[in-house]
Amino acid sequence: MKTDTVTQIDITKTSKSKIENVDFNNLSFGQVFSDHMLVCDYKDGTWETPKIIPYQPITLEPSAKIFHYGQSVFEGMKAYKDSDNNILVFRPIDNCKRLNISSKRLAIPEIPEAYFMDGLKELLRLEKDWIPTSDGSALYIRPFVFASGEGFHASPADAYKFVIACAPSGSYFAGKVKVLIEETYSRSANGGVGFAKAGGNYAGQFYPTQLAKDKGYHQVIWTDDNTHEYIEEAGAMNIFARIDDTLLTVPTSDRILDGITRKSIIQIAKDENIPVEVRKISVKELIEAAENGSLKELFGAGTAAVISPIAGFGFKGQDYDLPEVENSYASLLKKRITDIQTNKTVDPYGWRVKV
Ligand code: PLP
Ligand code: COI
Repeated sequence: MKTDTVTQIDITKTSKSKIENVDFNNLSFGQVFSDHMLVCDYKDGTWETPKIIPYQPITLEPSAKIFHYGQSVFEGMKAYKDSDNNILVFRPIDNCKRLNISSKRLAIPEIPEAYFMDGLKELLRLEKDWIPTSDGSALYIRPFVFASGEGFHASPADAYKFVIACAPSGSYFAGKVKVLIEETYSRSANGGVGFAKAGGNYAGQFYPTQLAKDKGYHQVIWTDDNTHEYIEEAGAMNIFARIDDTLLTVPTSDRILDGITRKSIIQIAKDENIPVEVRKISVKELIEAAENGSLKELFGAGTAAVISPIAGFGFKGQDYDLPEVENSYASLLKKRITDIQTNKTVDPYGWRVKV
């Protein structure tokens, strides 16, 4: 298998761009898609030549294993354009590495880094005009790999598709969110696939999240599957709490996604001289802190939502509201990270990649 360089990417451009139909000032999240997509097939033990083609439906046999056994993984990343019209992506190699960590767990062949990176860059060059520049917007990039190979036998497929599609997007959440601490359901378990971005992890969240929505909450705070005593993630985001002036987040594990936003925030916070602790956080500690007023902030962190402040949480029928704080860590850290992402400030970490 070729691994280090992609010798060729076949490009077929669309005959008619859809861009004129898009209102770039009123973008929702992930609802309109750009003109092209990258597709790379895995057959006979090899990733074939990647192709960039017009965005279009993918045709599969009913026996394709993705439909039956959910063999699929994905990533989420964002591209920005700075004031000099440079295309910028945030820590894309980390996404490539995590895609392959996820693939390995799902018995999907890993994609060579050069296929991912060269394919991504070529696609972004072609889709440059689709990168929105208004505050809070970006071109959301969705790389994914799934089992296209056929058969009802419950075993890994012999063929896969790697695809990158793009959606110019605005904010993921409209405002502050209210969350419910989960007491019954779990999103992951020890030895499971929680650390992977496997499609099924998200399908498994929809029903408990709908139950929480029916009660007036926007999201679920996932707790550990064994005792439900420790908080783990906030919906599809990593979770942060500020108790007094200390920023807390929980350690990653095989139940928790190793978020790229999470690890960037930890680094930035340390460099801002914010005391940071990475340790388990119990529901009991959170409730006591909410009751005695030391719980100043709770927020989720992830690519799609960046930093999403939490207005309050529910637990066992009781609601705990968080106060409005001035100079919140959430707004400071959000500004720092988005300024780095969009080239409004220097990037001392080398996270920003120019395409
Ligand atoms: N946790 C889960 C379950 C997620 O799906 C995501 C989103 O990607 C995150 C956390 C945040 O990860 P990242 O910051 O890499 O987007
Ligand atoms: C992301 O933050 O990029 C995600 O993947 C979360 C979600 C849209 C599933």
